[in-house]
Amino acid sequence: MAGTKTLTIIKPGAVRNEFIGPILAKINANGFHIAALKLIRLTREQAERFYAVHREKQFFENLISFMASGQVVVAILEKENAVADYRRLMGSTDPLKAEEGTIRKMFAENIERNAVHGSDSDENAEIECDFFFARSERFSNFTD
Ligand code: CMP
Repeated sequence: MAGTKTLTIIKPGAVRNEFIGPILAKINANGFHIAALKLIRLTREQAERFYAVHREKQFFENLISFMASGQVVVAILEKENAVADYRRLMGSTDPLKAEEGTIRKMFAENIERNAVHGSDSDENAEIECDFFFARSERFSNFTD
């Protein structure tokens, strides 16, 4: 059975552009419950740990510098089929390829500054939610 939660990050570019409100509104309008939420600034070390799977990629250094360049909003989003539905709502990693109406089409600057992150599997959603949130910081609508 598909899981009911995913982890999103509203990235520094979108925060700087005052897109926190519009992005959260779009998330709510598409049926997601916000079960946890905070505004934080990642250290380089935290960003490197979060994106460890990309360590060998040529874009890794730019990605880490960008993610540590300002505040981010991290949130746990809940609904049935959360991972796949949120990936559809985000649109393609590259905003040039993202469909009309998706978050990245509306709010991203380019593939490196692409407005939001979303978990890519239920397994990674669990890991990523645990990365940012203690149990006491979560307010789930589901009993899991
Ligand atoms: P995100 O969903 O946060 O996961 C990894 C990030 O790496 C991705 O969004 C992009 O911001 C970035 N990324 C992925 N592929 C590329 C690429 N080909 N060139 C530059 N950045 C990329």
